Amino acid sequence: VHWQATDITREHHASLKNQTPRVLWFTGLSGSGKSTIANEVEKRLALMNRHTFLLDGDNVRHGLNKDLGFTEADRIENIRRVGEVAKLMTDAGLIVLTAFISPFRAERQLVRDMLAEHEFIEIFVDTPLEVAEERDVKGLYRKAREGKLKNFTGIDSPYEPPENPEIRVNTVEMTPEEAADHIIQQILPLK
Ligand code: PPS
Repeated sequence: VHWQATDITREHHASLKNQTPRVLWFTGLSGSGKSTIANEVEKRLALMNRHTFLLDGDNVRHGLNKDLGFTEADRIENIRRVGEVAKLMTDAGLIVLTAFISPFRAERQLVRDMLAEHEFIEIFVDTPLEVAEERDVKGLYRKAREGKLKNFTGIDSPYEPPENPEIRVNTVEMTPEEAADHIIQQILPLK
């Protein structure tokens, strides 16, 4: 397979959109608030006339990744594919938001390494397990505790928190709206 060069470059795509492509990579436990906060951030960016796209775990698993489950190998492949899609979208000039548990440091690093320097912004949605489990919006923690759902993150499948995220939001102290405002403040200087 030979790489095919195109005349319209990624720089051209980005300059037409008058923005610097980025990947805002949200990571955190199930029920931590990733999707809600990413959605709030995307709404704010849209109001600022930024061209964005939100890739969400639950949605991507209905289509592109519907062949994947929640074993370690499947989660690794899930994140690898999402990283490749996010990269294509940055080539198209977009600001991409992703909301996946992405539990393993190695795969988050893999995606970071796929992208240009400073393009990957890791956002740790820091919700303690007790809080996510107490909220249990989808009833999945209860099922996991009852042994009806195997390989559940935080219960019988690991979550490796980021050591040095670009941004961290504490959802115990902040509402989703406040978390989104905080993230926008942090990324604003980036254009
Ligand atoms: S991962 O680990 O990044 O591949 O997971 P992701 O693609 O983000 O999918 C997480 C959503 O899938 C639902 N779900 C599970 N999560 C964790 N562990 C197990 N075993 C599981 N089974 C189903 C759950 O609704 C997750 O959604 P969020 O929005 O994170 O709560």
